[in-house]
Amino acid sequence: MSEFSIFKGKKVLLTGHTGFKGSWLAIWLEMLGAEVIGLALDPLDEDGVFTRSGIGQRITDYRCDIRDLEKVRRIFSDEKPEIVLHLAAQPLVLESYAQPVDTFAVNVMGTAHILEAIRHTSSVRAGVMVTTDKCYENKEWVFGYRESDPMGGHDPYSASKGAAEIVISSYRRSFFSTPGQAAIASARSGNVIGGGDWAANRLVPDVIRAEKAGQALEVRRPDSTRPWQHVLEPLSGYLLLAAKLLEAPDRYASAWNFGPLPTQVYSVRQVVEAFLQHLGKGEWRDVSDPDQPHEAGLLMLEISKAIHELGWKPVLQFQEMIRLTADWYARYTKDDVLGLCREQINQYRELWRSRNGN
Ligand SMILES: NC(=O)c1ccc[n+]([C@@H]2O[C@H](COP(=O)([O-])OP(=O)(O)OC[C@H]3O[C@@H](n4cnc5c(N)ncnc54)[C@H](O)[C@@H]3O)[C@@H](O)[C@H]2O)c1
Repeated sequence: MSEFSIFKGKKVLLTGHTGFKGSWLAIWLEMLGAEVIGLALDPLDEDGVFTRSGIGQRITDYRCDIRDLEKVRRIFSDEKPEIVLHLAAQPLVLESYAQPVDTFAVNVMGTAHILEAIRHTSSVRAGVMVTTDKCYENKEWVFGYRESDPMGGHDPYSASKGAAEIVISSYRRSFFSTPGQAAIASARSGNVIGGGDWAANRLVPDVIRAEKAGQALEVRRPDSTRPWQHVLEPLSGYLLLAAKLLEAPDRYASAWNFGPLPTQVYSVRQVVEAFLQHLGKGEWRDVSDPDQPHEAGLLMLEISKAIHELGWKPVLQFQEMIRLTADWYARYTKDDVLGLCREQINQYRELWRSRNGN
């Protein structure tokens, strides 16, 4: 993590800073001494990390729709960031079935707008564009997807992220390939869990909502496996990637998978049972329905490239990931949430140092 000292004093434009992953990343960047410029829509949840932590008052907080190219370009030209981390998106598969056109507009054209703004802002040296493991054409393989595998996507969300990857690759090759221009990479991670996520139809928020309502959690696909990871794992990957892009742009301007180790892939059933055990209360029941909309079953990421070329690897064991997440939900109404998030980031950094050796 010594690489992260590079963020001190750097101007970082972070899109999606009012959301689940973005608010954690804003807090982490602020801890590293970066000057954070947030660009996103209003937060959706009063109990999310953004609102509860008050991080919005410690950074520059723009509310801007990434579908509005002129406004996006104006913010870039006013702020002149050095690093861009693009997380803003419509991130939900089921919502993408309800709102396919909006999902494509935000995830594909929104990404094109961020790239276009980078193209016209000479201060930008590095950009990390966040997509997802679902960008791959899912063949239900038992082995992980490599960065060079074809893009695809059955549902509109997955397809929009596959399409965003193609846009990123096109911009990189067309506009960012000569020395002195911004170095652009994309980052694909798995199903993230962690404190402060309240999104609809996501497993952990559903567990907490059911428990609060005193009801048994209804699980649609208990035997689906997902590359679960704690939110701080991919965020450490995005930060490391941005740092490396500044150091050696040619070497790192490409696509990167940031998933769990192959031995760390668990079913929905295993996550729910471990979580309920940690909470010490709550129940679940299987409500599988053969007519529900298509959702990919098996999906894993191959992370050898990140391990060997970037020096990144997942740090947390399964039970540690569950414990950090359950502790956040157990404490967020009682404790100072900014302090709680910083405490968990510091715990993660300690584990990183002891297990990754820097
Ligand atoms: N959470 C996961 O499990 C997961 C897994 C893989 C990839 N991702 C990706 O990580 C990123 C962040 O996901 P999240 O879980 O934090 O989502 P989230 O819904 O919590 O946050 C989304 C953020 O994007 C912003 N946003 C949405 N539409 C916008 C628009 N039109 N203009 C400007 N801002 C807009 C929201 O305001 C919010 O700040 C997304 O790109 C998502 O696809 C998430």
